[in-house]
Amino acid sequence: MPSSRKPARANRVVELDHPLVKDHLTRLRDVQTPPDEFRRLVSRLTWLLAIEATRDLRLRRRPVDTPLARYDGHEIAGRVGLVPILRAGLGMVDPVLTLIPDAEVWHLGVYRDEATHQPVEYYNKLPTARPVDVALILDPMLATGGSILAALAMLRDWHVPTVKVLSIISASEGVRTVSSQFPETSIYTCGIDSKLNAHKFIVPGLGDAGDRQFNTLPRGEK
Ligand code: PRP
Repeated sequence: MPSSRKPARANRVVELDHPLVKDHLTRLRDVQTPPDEFRRLVSRLTWLLAIEATRDLRLRRRPVDTPLARYDGHEIAGRVGLVPILRAGLGMVDPVLTLIPDAEVWHLGVYRDEATHQPVEYYNKLPTARPVDVALILDPMLATGGSILAALAMLRDWHVPTVKVLSIISASEGVRTVSSQFPETSIYTCGIDSKLNAHKFIVPGLGDAGDRQFNTLPRGEK
């Protein structure tokens, strides 16, 4: 008997291949880039990521009157949730909200313990009912993948049917880890670097996206 269940959607790892992405990501990596410019670059790269990640959003009909005639147009159907991982994901919220003004924003607090490199959850007010239709996890960095896995587990508890990860820079190791544990989740990233160093930092990477956005690098590292 044919099953009425929809087949689980296959995971996609999309590394953006675009001259603007390469140009902006190189500036973001540059240790000389100051925090205000770093924030602007995060914002622009997030726009580019969001455009790719929302390519398959559902639409519904929205007829409108232009000054000249009736037009059979469209609007986004369903609820979209943005899930920034504090704190570095905060810089990715406004650019996506510019594109999807009606999106809901659900913050998650997760930081990576410096000694163990394991994710530590410290803020989660996700409801347990009425999940959004699509959730976009926003975090500029996917290193070991531990923080994204923690966020994905929280969203699974909320039963969100479609979850996508938007990460500006990723490590191949972390991408593999997330893909194997959440095979239905797609990952959109501007660049995948091959290495993690002994401190589990992405190499060459761009340093710490939270500290560089918010100008909190320890003295001597600025
Ligand atoms: C960074 C980054 C990710 C995480 C990536 O956050 O923004 O959330 O580490 O590492 P992972 O893939 O190995 O988990 P951090 O812990 O520095 O917190 P912050 O955003 O408050 O700076």
